[in-house]
Amino acid sequence: MHLTIRQVEVFNAVARLKNYTRAAEELHMSQPAVSMQIKQLESSVGLSLFEQMGKTIYLTDAGKHMYDYGRNITSLLDEADAVFEAMKGVERGRLIISVATTASHFATRLLAEFTKQHVGITISLDITNREALRRQLDNNEPDLVIMGQPPDGVEVEAEAFMKNPLVMIAPAGHTLGGRKDILLADLENESFVVREKGSGTRSAIERFFSRHEIVFNTGIEMTSNEAIKQAVEAGLGLGIVSIHTLELELETKRLQVLDVRDFPIERHWYVIQRKGKRLSPAARAFKQFVLEQAKEFI
Ligand code: PGA
Repeated sequence: MHLTIRQVEVFNAVARLKNYTRAAEELHMSQPAVSMQIKQLESSVGLSLFEQMGKTIYLTDAGKHMYDYGRNITSLLDEADAVFEAMKGVERGRLIISVATTASHFATRLLAEFTKQHVGITISLDITNREALRRQLDNNEPDLVIMGQPPDGVEVEAEAFMKNPLVMIAPAGHTLGGRKDILLADLENESFVVREKGSGTRSAIERFFSRHEIVFNTGIEMTSNEAIKQAVEAGLGLGIVSIHTLELELETKRLQVLDVRDFPIERHWYVIQRKGKRLSPAARAFKQFVLEQAKEFI
């Protein structure tokens, strides 16, 4: 059997995402190039690895075996990579970081400061939502993840490094602005512009309202905090966002934070690694930097 590591990587992505287009996007390849790699792999294995039913693709039995081997192959390569990075030392390492969409508002600032202190380190940063981060940790892809709460269903080591309060925002001039101690029950007729399902912010908000037994009316869903702030500003509803996504909007009075009882919703930011993961010196240095210095730069 002659196969290439690239074919295995492409196969793993398609097997994990069950979707050629999304795999192509993730790998920064065209979809025909992805299909071609899979065809070549299937012809070298001599068996079909996927079957298509309607729009969905499934792994065949051979595909399931290939996926087990595929993940072992890439994780061995990662391990080898980590050993060589360790031999190069902290100043020449490579760092693979994934952060929650909401954390992207400060992650770039953190990385900028970290690279000033460690000029030789190459960084790859992926920004995605909580659900995708859980999958990445499950697949042992990133060195470290920054997110709002350790994920369920994956064994991880998580350390909190900073508070992450979620506040309620309204456009300037909203009737609730300036009111003190607004009761949650007074908000039952309001509609909220919310993040997509799979977002940590969204699930924290839903948990909060259900704990208080208050109806939470979701209006438009958006995958970006920037878009939510713009929608709230345009009067499409109220919003609930991490305080770390707010920048000049408050100073320039385009948005206001409402004084709602039981708010803010208290959360924390965590730096997380898969349990048992051997961190490279570069990753260890970044983790220490986040735990000790992050607050100064956010
Ligand atoms: P998200 O992130 O809402 O952007 O997914 C915050 C979190 O991890 O809780």
